[in-house]
Amino acid sequence: MSGKLEGKVALITGGSSGIGLATAQRFVAEGARVFITGRRAAELQKAQALIGKGVTAVQGDVTILSDLDHLYATIAREAGHLDVVFANTGGGPFEPFSAVSAESFDTTFGLTIRATFFTIQKAIPLLNNDASIIMTGSIAAVKVVPHLSVYGAAKAALRSLARSLSFELKDRGIRANLLTPGPVDTPPMASFPKELLGALVGSVPMGRMGAPGEIAAAALFLASSESSFMTGTEVFVDGGTAQI
Ligand SMILES: NC(=O)c1ccc[n+]([C@@H]2O[C@H](COP(=O)([O-])OP(=O)(O)OC[C@H]3O[C@@H](n4cnc5c(N)ncnc54)[C@H](OP(=O)(O)O)[C@@H]3O)[C@@H](O)[C@H]2O)c1
Repeated sequence: MSGKLEGKVALITGGSSGIGLATAQRFVAEGARVFITGRRAAELQKAQALIGKGVTAVQGDVTILSDLDHLYATIAREAGHLDVVFANTGGGPFEPFSAVSAESFDTTFGLTIRATFFTIQKAIPLLNNDASIIMTGSIAAVKVVPHLSVYGAAKAALRSLARSLSFELKDRGIRANLLTPGPVDTPPMASFPKELLGALVGSVPMGRMGAPGEIAAAALFLASSESSFMTGTEVFVDGGTAQI
């Protein structure tokens, strides 16, 4: 039986860990050729060894435009086009509103919004007609998570971007959607203070964190033709956290 992404070429930013890594594994299992990127070469190598044939790791920082140029030059040379862009990187520290510095604000917006914007803009020349663009949102954009005002605002901006992209790219048949996880058991969670983690898990109606593979399953749906009538929307995979 052939996979849901047989013959497709996909880019996953932040593909060396957590949600991105689980998605890279799933996409390759479904027949895609996958490019992953991240800053740490050692993590990328580990991910490549774990995933095996079908994945190419390109080291780089998505906040640096020349690194994005290098990434797309590599994809152009090795694959010639892209069918799926999963712009998955993002993040920011827990900080009370009054303690946020201009530098911290710029770093969070730089990674979560600016880098996502240019990751997608620079992919456009390589995108096939009917390609799928997926961005990673957060429930912090729609529900207050204490001390995440900047991160929540940056993720909220991605919701708007999904709408704009879906409009601007519709004539080429390119779709753009936001995939919004609730708390997911990825490496950053290990460094959360115990109390905060307890409160976070306690806020999930299903009573547990999600597994990275559960987000990857939704990414596969949005990447594949199974979601061919979906664009400009947001898909929550959050155990009900932002719903009830
Ligand atoms: N885990 C959750 O509960 C949760 C919930 C909602 C939303 N999200 C979102 O899901 C996405 C992935 O998070 P995760 O939990 O899977 O985190 P993770 O396990 O820490 O993975 C983050 C990935 O992004 C890469 N990365 C970070 N900064 C980068 C940069 N400047 N340039 C290139 N790559 C970069 C990391 O590699 P390097 O560090 O080597 O660069 C790593 O591969 C993020 O957008 C996050 O906001 C997560």
